[in-house]
Amino acid sequence: MKITEALLAEHLVFHNMLDHIETTTPKLKTLAEIKSLAAMLESMLKAHSNTEDQLFLGPLEHCFEQLGQRDAFMEEHEEMGHHLRRIRQVKRIKQARDLFLAAVRRSREHFDKEERIVFPMAERLLKAKTLAALGQTWMQQRMNTSVCASCDNKVCV
Ligand SMILES: [Fe+2]
Ligand SMILES: [Fe+2]
Repeated sequence: MKITEALLAEHLVFHNMLDHIETTTPKLKTLAEIKSLAAMLESMLKAHSNTEDQLFLGPLEHCFEQLGQRDAFMEEHEEMGHHLRRIRQVKRIKQARDLFLAAVRRSREHFDKEERIVFPMAERLLKAKTLAALGQTWMQQRMNTSVCASCDNKVCV
């Protein structure tokens, strides 16, 4: 599998999750529920963004630099995490809800930019062999960070 296909598959899972958050967040009655949902999104986004920073930024660095987008790419990842982390300190439910929904909108915009610009650019500029090798690294990284719920081991097969 190419790295771009792997990352796009992750995006599809996020899009479903973001749909669910947008539908349920206005109905949630407690601050704790919103914080817990935000913490889950924060942790999943962190894993996804770290993968992109580690596997993508290196091979595509010169292209991002030409577009003047190198720092923007990493800053957006940092910014998305920052907005979600702010929710941890919030004391009022309305503020938590507003921040959470704003963070969801920003995440969607970021995904959209990657799907329209970054992934096609990677497919154009990187060799098929490189895309496949990065896809293999993605697979290994994901396997190594999976924790088996029943035995608490890192990889349980
Ligand atoms: Fe990203
Ligand atoms: Fe992404």
